[in-house]
Amino acid sequence: MEWEELRSAAAVAAGQAYAPYSGYPVGAAAVTDAGRLVTGCNVENASLGLTLCAECGLVSALALGGGGRLSRFACVDKEGQPITPCGRCRQLLLEHGGLQLELLTAAGVVTLADLLPQAWGPNDWSGPKSAGQA
Ligand code: THU
Repeated sequence: MEWEELRSAAAVAAGQAYAPYSGYPVGAAAVTDAGRLVTGCNVENASLGLTLCAECGLVSALALGGGGRLSRFACVDKEGQPITPCGRCRQLLLEHGGLQLELLTAAGVVTLADLLPQAWGPNDWSGPKSAGQA
């Protein structure tokens, strides 16, 4: 899937955002290694701290649709301009895409390794796991 398609899918998702508190709708879109498109939008909450970023919805959609590994990702604001994921969402993306995940940013395409140096991930703890390899 081309970057422009991903970006426009993210812009469509941003149109579904529930962001009455910040007034900052966000949409995210990604393609999996199997070629499946998954999207998400931010969903805010009156308690503010319970706000769900667009990436939260996206990884939920990923699991709900059968899982897989994210290979390309784009996140946009209401103007359709690329934004970089917040810190917590970088960690969510690491879990489901790994350090080689490609992301569209205002500065061009980068990898998650660029955005999350010295990442701590699923391979860095010894608990019971069946997680993907990051
Ligand atoms: N937001 C996202 O959805 N993803 C990000 O990576 C950055 C921030 C949302 C959360 C909140 O609803 C709004 O943007 C303003 O912070």
